[in-house]
Amino acid sequence: MDLGLALRTRRSIRVYRRDAVPRAVIKEILDTAVRAPSSFNSQPWEFVVASGQSLDAIRDHNEQMLARGEPPHPDFPAKRLEGVYRQRQLEVFAELCRLEGVDPHNKAAVACLRRRSYRFFEAPAAIIISFDGSLDAVRAHFDLGMVSQNICLGALAQNLGTCLCLEAVSYAEKIREVCAIPPEKKICVAIALGYPDTGHPANRLLSQREPVGNLTRWAGFENEEASEA
Ligand SMILES: Cc1cc2nc3c(=O)[nH]c(=O)nc-3n(C[C@H](O)[C@H](O)[C@H](O)COP(=O)(O)O)c2cc1C
Repeated sequence: MDLGLALRTRRSIRVYRRDAVPRAVIKEILDTAVRAPSSFNSQPWEFVVASGQSLDAIRDHNEQMLARGEPPHPDFPAKRLEGVYRQRQLEVFAELCRLEGVDPHNKAAVACLRRRSYRFFEAPAAIIISFDGSLDAVRAHFDLGMVSQNICLGALAQNLGTCLCLEAVSYAEKIREVCAIPPEKKICVAIALGYPDTGHPANRLLSQREPVGNLTRWAGFENEEASEA
């Protein structure tokens, strides 16, 4: 697959077919993904690939905790978004609701939609990504972001869909128990992985992007005319 096309067409997939993803395919995706750059080639990423009963145990636990109103306690608590960032979050959620035919003001329907994220969108596999707690967490997160994007693009090249999923790692203790992740390893994110249900409207969600012209200043290009409006 052409790289430019892959970058333009990748999107988060939130509805999957049930078909299992062969272990060899996931291994190949990871083998390629770890070519990602990392700070001083530290390669801080560690993976647990969960599937079958292991993944079901985590999603069931997440759902139970959510239903009980248990506050999330991930290894890295998320800060609430504000301003334009919150606006973008609301916009993408509104678009998801629209495609799903869910009224964003209907609390029960919205809760049902959110629950799917805690259940890894019922994907047949998930990659839990962690790093050693002795590392600088900011730098490690950056590097894990690079490998995560490689995983998403490598999966796309295999006709697989992905969705990064922070909500699914909200209750880290169960993931530690099921995946035998020791306390010194910090759970950063999960990536849901599976063959997309291509007919499902949720998978048509094409999230918007701020035009680059609004985000970029150019320095030292005095002899070139601006090509963007
Ligand atoms: C670190 C990270 C965590 C995310 N966690 C979630 C999540 O918990 N639930 C979810 O539905 N999407 C999650 N996403 C997906 C984003 O919502 C998605 O990337 C964004 O809306 C842009 O859409 P796109 O991936 O389709 O381009 C996450 C993405 C990232 C990078």
